[in-house]
Amino acid sequence: MTVNHTEHGQHNSAMPEASSEWPAFVTPNEPLAPYTTYEVGGPARWLAQPRTVGELANLVTRCGRAEVRLHVLGRGANLLVCDDGVDGMVVRLNGPEFRRVNWGEPGDDGEVLVTAGAGADLGRVALDAVRRGLSGLEWMAGIPGTLGGAVRMNAGGRFGQIGDVVREVSVLASDGSERTLSGAQVGFRYRGTNLGDAIVCRVTLGLRPDRPEAVRNRFMEVWDSKKRSQPLAEATAGCVFKNPPGCSAGELIDRAGLKNRRIGGAQVSDRHANFIVAQEGAKASDVLELIALVRREVAARFGVELELEIEIWGQRDRGL
Ligand code: FAD
Ligand code: EPU
Repeated sequence: MTVNHTEHGQHNSAMPEASSEWPAFVTPNEPLAPYTTYEVGGPARWLAQPRTVGELANLVTRCGRAEVRLHVLGRGANLLVCDDGVDGMVVRLNGPEFRRVNWGEPGDDGEVLVTAGAGADLGRVALDAVRRGLSGLEWMAGIPGTLGGAVRMNAGGRFGQIGDVVREVSVLASDGSERTLSGAQVGFRYRGTNLGDAIVCRVTLGLRPDRPEAVRNRFMEVWDSKKRSQPLAEATAGCVFKNPPGCSAGELIDRAGLKNRRIGGAQVSDRHANFIVAQEGAKASDVLELIALVRREVAARFGVELELEIEIWGQRDRGL
């Protein structure tokens, strides 16, 4: 999610220039590579790590007044940060308030409501649910991210998507006001929502008690299938492109003979062709050039324009 307070994300005269003018949880020129699964790219002009929703709301209001562009970073598992870095304010929700998880008791309808901060680790919550014999998140096996990022992207796959179990989402609007949305209001669709500029702060999930062994078996089935077909141990941001209606982008890229195609340190995975791996020493520009090559070759061969699933942050974010 990017709150675009200025057309090009440029700073203006109202913006504090010295880091001392921002709250103490804001640091200047902070490298972003360690905060993303691609592990490439440059720094954020400012990185903010607010501890509470109140601090976040103040920051959002200040950025709005100063017309500073604001990006929310989850686990950085669906992002490519450009080599020159990101202008504006990047916000990470990693304080304890944003990572807290409250496990409820079964209600009259049998559902257990689990309320978690947007910065909670998706894999951790999914595994804890498995251990408690709660069904609904086993489909998230093998998907890295935070709960906020997963909701924003409606993370999932052919096994299920997170939107299916989201009951409520608390968000901050770009004016700093807080609202609670029902799952239906979020408007979950294939890898998307209606959330726009809103920042997800808290999520309530509805999970169903089941035999712990049955939940565990389903989790392991999904995990094993992902491990067989995806390069889970390498530096990627998952599938680069969305699937065009009715077909798999990975299959098209594979059939175009692009597996293992390499530019600099970026390589199309030989395990799943919709994953581009950043090898040691890769630059974001290598990944960008390979993305452009894959799109050109798939368009030339099949007449299909592949649409990006990953987000590109930085100078090139309008180029692709
Ligand atoms: P980020 O990448 O940090 O951000 C993604 C978007 O969400 C950005 O627009 C960001 O601004 C926004 N965002 C993040 N947090 C918030 C918030 N609190 N409020 C508002 N906006 C926010 N995805 C799938 O759907 N299915 C898969 O099977 C899958 N497999 C993957 C496998 C691997 C190995 C990898 C590396 C990635 C995979 N992905 C998959 C992609 C990724 O895991 C998901 O998109 C995940 O939901 C991203 O979460 P994140 O916290 O890392 O979000
Ligand atoms: N295929 C190939 N070659 C490849 C990759 C796939 O021929 O290199 C074929 C497979 O053999 C299969 C078909 O394409 O017949 C579909 O493959 P797969 O089951 O891997 O599913 P996908 O459509 O490629 C989607 C999601 C994944 C998600 C999986 C499993 C998208 C863009 N991708 O992949 O999500 O993990 O289903 O549920 O929707 C992500 O979004 O980042 C992601 C990894």
